[in-house]
Amino acid sequence: MATRLEAPTEGPRDVEGDVLLEGVTRRFGDVVALDGVSLRAARHEVVAVVGPSGSGKSTLLELVCGLQAPDAGRVVAGRAVLMPQRDLLLPWLDALDNAALPLRLAREAKAPARARAHELLAQLGLVGFERSRTWELSGGMRQRVAVARTLLSGAPILCLDEPFGALDAITRADAQGWLAGVLAREPRTVLLVTHDVEEAVLLADRVVVLSPRPGRVVADLPVALPRPRSATDPAVTALRARALASLRSAMEGGA
Ligand SMILES: Nc1ncnc2c1ncn2[C@@H]1O[C@H](COP(=O)(O)OP(=O)(O)OP(=O)(O)O)[C@@H](O)[C@H]1O
Ligand SMILES: [Mg+2]
Repeated sequence: MATRLEAPTEGPRDVEGDVLLEGVTRRFGDVVALDGVSLRAARHEVVAVVGPSGSGKSTLLELVCGLQAPDAGRVVAGRAVLMPQRDLLLPWLDALDNAALPLRLAREAKAPARARAHELLAQLGLVGFERSRTWELSGGMRQRVAVARTLLSGAPILCLDEPFGALDAITRADAQGWLAGVLAREPRTVLLVTHDVEEAVLLADRVVVLSPRPGRVVADLPVALPRPRSATDPAVTALRARALASLRSAMEGGA
């Protein structure tokens, strides 16, 4: 049974930004997507979740956001917002109004909402593109607008599902840099689903590795490295190799 703490009235305030999964199982008919998954993210912690296709990564994020309920086990999380695998920008709005959408939905007035969106888009390297329509933006720009919109939701917990999955290597490296910068200025609890082990090590405090379906946690690797991190740092490449090895061994059924 999922327990949702929308507005905690007791206990430490930090509970708002905490995520806890205990023995979570999720089935779709005969398909077991997640099997006994336990996972914790403390307030302001960035936890990357890597695993093969079909290992239940998107399902896990939807459970944390309360869009699904577990069949067994327990999910406890504060207010969490999902950036889904497809960016879902609205084509009739420009970049600025797409980013400002959660503020407008929360009834913030147009001018201050746009001012905040403007500032964040600038931090994400989108100066000059605020008035562009979504179809005038590159894939990397669209992803950054979607990240801005997710951040402006104000939720203490962000669930990012392959936020940079569709981008080429250079654009992806830039986008990772933007996200790291924004999180350094404005920390949030983040669950980051990615296929890219290097991205996980560059951005996360911990890398959780899931097995092929049914998804089980096969490794939970701390990334105790100072930021900003560089892909060429030997400590980063060593951890990347470790995470890749657990992923490989999970895929071969050896974990
Ligand atoms: N709504 C649903 N109905 C039926 N089966 C589902 C549903 N959602 C997910 N599944 C199944 O659960 C399993 C896990 O799916 P999920 O989308 O969570 O995997 P994933 O790790 O995000 O994969 P990918 O890396 O391809 O995005 C898959 O076998 C999928 O087909
Ligand atoms: Mg998915």
